[in-house]
Amino acid sequence: MPSSNQKLNVVVGISGGIAAFKAVGVVRELVLLGHNVQVVATESALKFVGAPTLEALSRNPVYHDLFEGVAEVRHVAIGQSADVIVIAPATANMIARLSVGLADDLVSTTVLASKAPLVIAPAMHTEMWQHASTQHNIRVLEERGVTIVGPATGQLTGDDSGPGRMAEPTEIALATVEAHSRKINRHDLAGRHVLITAGGTREPIDPVRFIGNRSTGKQGVALASAAARRGAMVTLIGANLEVSPPAGVEFVAVGTANELQAAVDLRASKSDLIIMAAAIADYRPQEVSDSKIKKDVHGEQFQLNLVRNPDILATLANSARPGQVIVGFAAETDTDEVKLLETAKLKLERKGCDFLVVNKVGWTEGFASESNAITVLAKGGDIVLTTSGTKLSVADSILDLLI
Ligand code: CTP
Repeated sequence: MPSSNQKLNVVVGISGGIAAFKAVGVVRELVLLGHNVQVVATESALKFVGAPTLEALSRNPVYHDLFEGVAEVRHVAIGQSADVIVIAPATANMIARLSVGLADDLVSTTVLASKAPLVIAPAMHTEMWQHASTQHNIRVLEERGVTIVGPATGQLTGDDSGPGRMAEPTEIALATVEAHSRKINRHDLAGRHVLITAGGTREPIDPVRFIGNRSTGKQGVALASAAARRGAMVTLIGANLEVSPPAGVEFVAVGTANELQAAVDLRASKSDLIIMAAAIADYRPQEVSDSKIKKDVHGEQFQLNLVRNPDILATLANSARPGQVIVGFAAETDTDEVKLLETAKLKLERKGCDFLVVNKVGWTEGFASESNAITVLAKGGDIVLTTSGTKLSVADSILDLLI
């Protein structure tokens, strides 16, 4: 995991939610990592956690009042001196205010007066997190380059549980340090050719029907977007994407597995890194009917003959040139973690790629979601990364690892 050895000025902003008590852990972790921590809190945050606790742990005064320290222009000075800012917890209200650039308390003025990378750890009830307004605001912040850590899924304040729980302090502290080092190295893919496949193939049965899958292409598009932002020359091969390809990448639209293979074959040899995030149909109908298949011709039963599609990832891994990195994805439905990893290890061996990004999918998880939880296995089967968050933050973590 990349980290900076440099002592950083970290501003920890705390907004008013019950998870504010866990901010104490974030402050502690950052101090233990050797950084100088300055806490700024909203009025309501200090109703959940006491300033003396934060002062003792951060070894600095805690500021919360816009009208204190006016002579030293504190509302601007703290932001200007920050190397990185982390807001934990970030309530729905704080996220909304940050997304439109409001500056009506010390936390928001500090953010607005700073050029430092910003990390936020959302924490709220599931309904608030999933609300279209919050999701919109999160996307705005993400597009601006803000790192979003979590939220995790688990027990919330009341009896309810679900997505909305603040990520663990250690994860937030590490993401904060990483956000700083990423800013320094943000052109770490300059000069590299990156080829990414995304979406789900559709194998036609007749002019109106196909065999498809539920992949939307969001994770692959996030990877393309992150790689382009980090300076790579990116080609995105998209099969039936439900999201727009990002700006600044070469985009090739395909429909079927065979079309995807042809597009990959054309570009594979010049690519330094190939990420196969697309969900590719293993079979296609042996014959495609020229006209709509009619049930009055077939009666009660209808059989479709399917033939195997080529395994594009395995072929790429077999013919990779030295130095070329090939990454596969595996969406698995095993509910048991141990079984899931066993399945993934076997797949990694079978495919022969350098890394396999594994995520759990099911009727209600994985597809179409804005967030993802992944485990990455390296050749040989070792777990080299486990992370969760928005698809863009997961994309950056994968690229950090590959770099
Ligand atoms: N893949 C591929 N060509 C295929 C099928 C899959 O290149 N015909 C790639 C996918 O892009 C992904 C990886 O292989 O990176 C794993 O895809 P998955 O569908 O999970 O694997 P399968 O080979 O289909 O294995 P299984 O059917 O046993 O789950």
